Amino acid sequence: MRKKILFLVVMMTSVTNQLNAQRADLLFMVEHAIKAPSGHNTQPWKFKINEHSVDIYPDYGKALPVVDPDNRELFVSLGCATENLCIAATIKGYRSEVSVAADGLIHIDLQRDTTITPSPLFPQIAMRQTNRNVYDGRIIPVDSICELQAMEKEPAVGVRFFRNGSHEFNMIADLILAGNSRQMDDEHFIAELKQWMRYNKKHADGTHDGLSYAVFGAPNLPRFISQPVMGMFINGKQQNKGDRKKIASSSHLVLFTTEANTIEQWVALGRTLERYLLKMTAMGIAIGYMNQPNEVKDLALTMTSSLGLGSQYPTVLIRIGYSERAPYSQRRPVETVLLP
Ligand SMILES: Cc1cc2nc3c(=O)[nH]c(=O)nc-3n(C[C@H](O)[C@H](O)[C@H](O)COP(=O)(O)O)c2cc1C
Repeated sequence: MRKKILFLVVMMTSVTNQLNAQRADLLFMVEHAIKAPSGHNTQPWKFKINEHSVDIYPDYGKALPVVDPDNRELFVSLGCATENLCIAATIKGYRSEVSVAADGLIHIDLQRDTTITPSPLFPQIAMRQTNRNVYDGRIIPVDSICELQAMEKEPAVGVRFFRNGSHEFNMIADLILAGNSRQMDDEHFIAELKQWMRYNKKHADGTHDGLSYAVFGAPNLPRFISQPVMGMFINGKQQNKGDRKKIASSSHLVLFTTEANTIEQWVALGRTLERYLLKMTAMGIAIGYMNQPNEVKDLALTMTSSLGLGSQYPTVLIRIGYSERAPYSQRRPVETVLLP
């Protein structure tokens, strides 16, 4: 009898230890998922850690109804987080399988697999950043662009590169500037943007989210000074003045498209985008977003017809080039995004 009880205790302890180790592995994956980019750094995600899977839920409380009324960029951000999670899973020896429900719940099944090799993109998860600097003007060599073009994409996702100086590059640049003028003319757009601005270190440290003074290259000043000063730069004229230099200093514009405007394809685009961002980070390439023309519907239509995209939806536009590194943005602590 005693032997039986001892055996049961040993068995139960071993199962508990295994479950604890597994939960630690899955938590490690979530810690890397939340390093993903998101529009205005809202971090619109919640995670549920299960025994052999992680569920990612959209957090609509962090939606951006003015700039992103269909939650398209929200789901692209969730796709970026999904990709980070799957890459981190390889480090712990897990195979991942992603499924996306029609309501946007992302389920990632995670099974141990001794044949899994660690992803070479993992070290870049902590290094990746959005870089809003004026770049140094150097053009990325053709070989590097070819290497990027050859990367694996999720089904239905397209990636197009436009070299600085080309007719298409100049046409998209004009649409970016038109997008700035339109967005900055909209008081609701400005109000939403200001809601996510973090005007000094104390403000940024208080929320661990949003667009901090530091990522715009502003100094850390008392809020009664920084808020009105930064506010002076939030208008179409100033935005276009800055963006003209930023675009001119970039090597390429890169456009990510989907075949359909569905949650599943937005998540697929996010996964592809994150893979590209990590690979570019490894190649020493800086990345900044210029998503204005995709966010203003009629400009997106103009881009679709001018670039001959056919039935493809232009969804994320980035500029790439070479630059010094920029300050990093903050993330909320992982405990605050875990569901019980
Ligand atoms: C779908 C998507 C759209 C974005 N659009 C813009 C944009 O138009 N302009 C911009 O400056 N940053 C944009 N960003 C970048 C976010 O602001 C950035 O990811 C966030 O502030 C976190 O910073 P990090 O990327 O350095 O971690 C976008 C990010 C995502 C995922």
